[in-house]
Amino acid sequence: MSSLPQASSFAGQVDYLFDAMLALSAVVVIGVFAAILWFAVKYRHGSRADRSRSSRRTLGIELAWTLIPLFLFVGIFAWSISLFAYMSRPPIETVPVYVVAKQWMWKVQHPGGQREINTLHLALGQPTRLVMTSQDVIHSFYVPAFRVKQDVLPGRYTQLWFNATRAGTYNLFCAEFCGTDHARMGGLVIVMQPKDYANWLEAHAGTDLAAQGAALFRRLGCSGCHDPQSGVHAPDLYDLYGSTVPLSDGTQVRADERYLHDSIMLPNKEIAAGYAPVMPSYQGRIGEDDVLALIAYLKSRHAAGSP
Ligand code: CUA
Repeated sequence: MSSLPQASSFAGQVDYLFDAMLALSAVVVIGVFAAILWFAVKYRHGSRADRSRSSRRTLGIELAWTLIPLFLFVGIFAWSISLFAYMSRPPIETVPVYVVAKQWMWKVQHPGGQREINTLHLALGQPTRLVMTSQDVIHSFYVPAFRVKQDVLPGRYTQLWFNATRAGTYNLFCAEFCGTDHARMGGLVIVMQPKDYANWLEAHAGTDLAAQGAALFRRLGCSGCHDPQSGVHAPDLYDLYGSTVPLSDGTQVRADERYLHDSIMLPNKEIAAGYAPVMPSYQGRIGEDDVLALIAYLKSRHAAGSP
């Protein structure tokens, strides 16, 4: 029914759901208005309709008009919940592309150090996972052709994933009012054949994000405490990503991107068990781009299985 291209594996499913809701709502609207018209004409002033009290039992009809819509609408609810759950569980093994929103642009960082502004290049037929955050206010990453939209929040990571199924160039919008130039905060998503994408990555390769993070790790003094040789009683960060961390309050947390981000920016939020809360906060001292580089570095050490 929609004239927008269906360019992701979600698009068809979202459209089916939308069309089903539209059709169901149309049936209800038409039914209600038809009944209004019919009664208005039949019992209009001066008509000879029978206005005496009916003795017919109407329990069957009442049950039908209550239960049938109930099942239909609960069915729509279950359908949308299952689709929503599927769309909000990104494949964690997919290497993420990082997106930082700021007034009024989208900054994109690929793991190989490729950076772009207001464009996002990606490969056809491969799942893409975005890890996103904002440097200032709330923005929203919206690609209508993919039927995906996700709020991007300051101080928090949100994720979005999709599988592009049609090569081409599609519009990217900010879908959350974020100030003067909100309407102009957009860009293009460019879906390329995997071979062209590999060429593009190679042509735009910069310093590896993990290597940038390694340099920062030394420059900011992280290594002074967190290197195994440092002699300071600080958590060992090798092999941290993906592991389960016991916290001082007795709970546990999975060391994902969100945990690493918060440990750097809000270190007193979750204290690792057995350590004093002496880590300084880097909030306001480094940008979200730097945090992403540090996280990429910590993940690379995990992947490399360094000692
Ligand atoms: Cu960013 Cu609206």
